[in-house]
Amino acid sequence: MHHRVFSGIQPTGNLHLGNYLGAIRNWVGFQDRMETVFCIVDLHALTQQPAAADMQPNIREVTAAYLASGIDPKRAIIFAQSRVSVHAELAWVLSCHAPLGWLNRMTQFKEKAGKDKDVAVTGLYTYPVLMAADILAYRATHVPVGEDQKQHLELARDIAGAFNRHYGVDFFPLPEPEIFGAATRVMSLRDGTKKMSKSDPSDYSRLVMTDDADTIALKLRKAKTDTEPLPEPGTSFEAARPEAANLIGIYAALSDQTRDAVLTQWAGQQFSGFKRELTERAVAVLGPIGAEMKRLLAAPDHVDAVLADGAERARAIANPIWDEARRIIGLS
Ligand code: TYM
Repeated sequence: MHHRVFSGIQPTGNLHLGNYLGAIRNWVGFQDRMETVFCIVDLHALTQQPAAADMQPNIREVTAAYLASGIDPKRAIIFAQSRVSVHAELAWVLSCHAPLGWLNRMTQFKEKAGKDKDVAVTGLYTYPVLMAADILAYRATHVPVGEDQKQHLELARDIAGAFNRHYGVDFFPLPEPEIFGAATRVMSLRDGTKKMSKSDPSDYSRLVMTDDADTIALKLRKAKTDTEPLPEPGTSFEAARPEAANLIGIYAALSDQTRDAVLTQWAGQQFSGFKRELTERAVAVLGPIGAEMKRLLAAPDHVDAVLADGAERARAIANPIWDEARRIIGLS
């Protein structure tokens, strides 16, 4: 089976350290080994009902983040989802193979919809079907994402299997989740039990990819901790000390070490010193990326050209797959 990587990020602003460590950073290495397709999932962003004027700036922001993080547009395909009509068309077909019971299990829908499910929009509910279509439209085999997307990927595998069984074909590969690194689930800097997210009302909950050194320092100084020193390696403290566990994970990821290696160095010391060192590492990693993003966004011609070229190359892969799917389904 031909190997192909697909992943994507919603253009909803506030791109943060979790998006970088959980996703984008892990994409870079695949470029040398496989064909890679990286999407800006603008149709998914519509589930949040964004203002029209925010869409293009947010699409460019995510594109700039990909480029600044080392995604090479000569090798990788970078494009906006809505520019390739196959995503929406295939999503419809797949929705006809996805039982309600499968969607009812999705924890992200339950979290995002809140208490009153009747007012949540249909798009939020079928979001994971569109996500399955994104992946299967390219017959992708590898999908590098953060931990929070694991359930959606299992659903994508189930849907691919249901399609293949119904038509008696081996057409869609079952995509493999690629979830790795020391920070597959980065938590809020204000509450170690909540995921770091673009939509948290507190700016202090997240490091955003364009934060400058002073802002990074301020946010990490204010980051919640407890009064205990750093724990010993090999002990289980995570459940009782979620904020400590989160900062240790971030430190490990930013310095390419394991959590245990970080603790071997820091056990018994105070968080104040640890946070100063963490700040230096965060600035060393995010500083150059944020500066490059700002440079790219100041004159976005290059970003726009990358998206136009990427859309063409994406269609060149997805259109023939869709044609073949139509024949399998009996639509042509
Ligand atoms: P989005 O935009 O919510 O998240 C983009 C990526 O960032 C990861 N991520 C995190 N990783 C670690 N810690 C965090 N706190 C954190 N927050 C977010 C997510 O796991 C994701 O990898 N539904 C997808 C977008 C999507 C997609 C796809 C992904 C649409 N179609 C097809 C892969 C393949 C999402 O969550 O986007």
